[in-house]
Amino acid sequence: MCPIERSAADSQGSGLILIAFAPMTDRYDDLQASYRRCLRQGHFIERIYSRFMDSHPEIPPLFAGTDFSRQSMALRRGISSAIAHAAGSRLAERTMLAMAQVHGALGRAPVPPRLYPFWVDSLVAAVAETDPEFTPRLGQRWRQAMETTTAFFIGHH
Ligand code: HEM
Repeated sequence: MCPIERSAADSQGSGLILIAFAPMTDRYDDLQASYRRCLRQGHFIERIYSRFMDSHPEIPPLFAGTDFSRQSMALRRGISSAIAHAAGSRLAERTMLAMAQVHGALGRAPVPPRLYPFWVDSLVAAVAETDPEFTPRLGQRWRQAMETTTAFFIGHH
């Protein structure tokens, strides 16, 4: 008997079998909410970049020719897709692949994989400073989701 049939036949109606077969994905709704709060405060993306630039001497030269008003909009959308992708969205897959290619070894903005932890640290520090409802647990959740993203980029390097 397949699991669904077995759950339908569960005369106790306990629901326990259904829970066992629920999808294992995390929707990261708490991060989407945290991200909205951060964006509402203003200057959130700029805060990430200012920390990021100070975090490693190899980083500022990578952005030497960057138009930051355009870049901020791109990253703003990028983080949104990254959260959706970490939450298992198939729709975000194509956007993530495009970003991974931009940052891959042959891309327009190649990123050495060893720099990604500085990006994650800068983002989490900016959230801690900006989200009025920040908790250390929420910071861990952000780290977990963004490490999914950076692992994906590194996997496509
Ligand atoms: C060590 C980490 C990273 C570094 C050093 C880095 C660096 C860069 C650079 C130099 C550019 C090109 C800017 C230009 O056009 O002048 C860029 C573009 C971009 N980055 Fe990153 N990046 C990093 C991580 C990330 C992550 C994790 C995301 C997504 C969550 C991301 C999203 C984007 C997007 C969306 C663009 C614009 C792409 C486009 O114009 O088509 N980056 N990045």
